[in-house]
Amino acid sequence: MAQASAQISPSAREAVCEALNQGVAETVVATMLAQNFHWNVTGMGFGPLHTLFQTMYEDHFVAQDDLAERIKALDGHAEGQLSAMLKRSKIAEHDGHVKAEAMVAALLAAQETLAATMVGLSAVAEDHGDLLTQDLAIGRARTHEKFAWMLRAHLR
Ligand SMILES: [Fe+2]
Repeated sequence: MAQASAQISPSAREAVCEALNQGVAETVVATMLAQNFHWNVTGMGFGPLHTLFQTMYEDHFVAQDDLAERIKALDGHAEGQLSAMLKRSKIAEHDGHVKAEAMVAALLAAQETLAATMVGLSAVAEDHGDLLTQDLAIGRARTHEKFAWMLRAHLR
């Protein structure tokens, strides 16, 4: 049954916050990945890729905050340490020394990972009757799938 945050049990909140922290960590790592490539991309596709990567990291930066502040609304702890985020994230950081096509491929993989993480988060939230987190996660999954499509289109 759907419930407002105050009615959600402490154990349910813990499970949802754990899944939210996973989402925050991967969103933060993906933000840096997109900004890293925004800086270091080269080649004839520089202009549009530089702009697309900026659109992505700006979106992700806002999303980090939305996800972390949902944890706070649930009275959980928002993990804010980069070292811990990198440790738990299924998306890895990158040295940025690759051609544009490899950057697009790496960002595509990151968007697909994030979409899957957000679908997983929505399922955890649904299991615990947390409709508001579910809504946030579904919106994020949709955005990551849209970015995945845009990146995939470059590789065809
Ligand atoms: Fe810039």
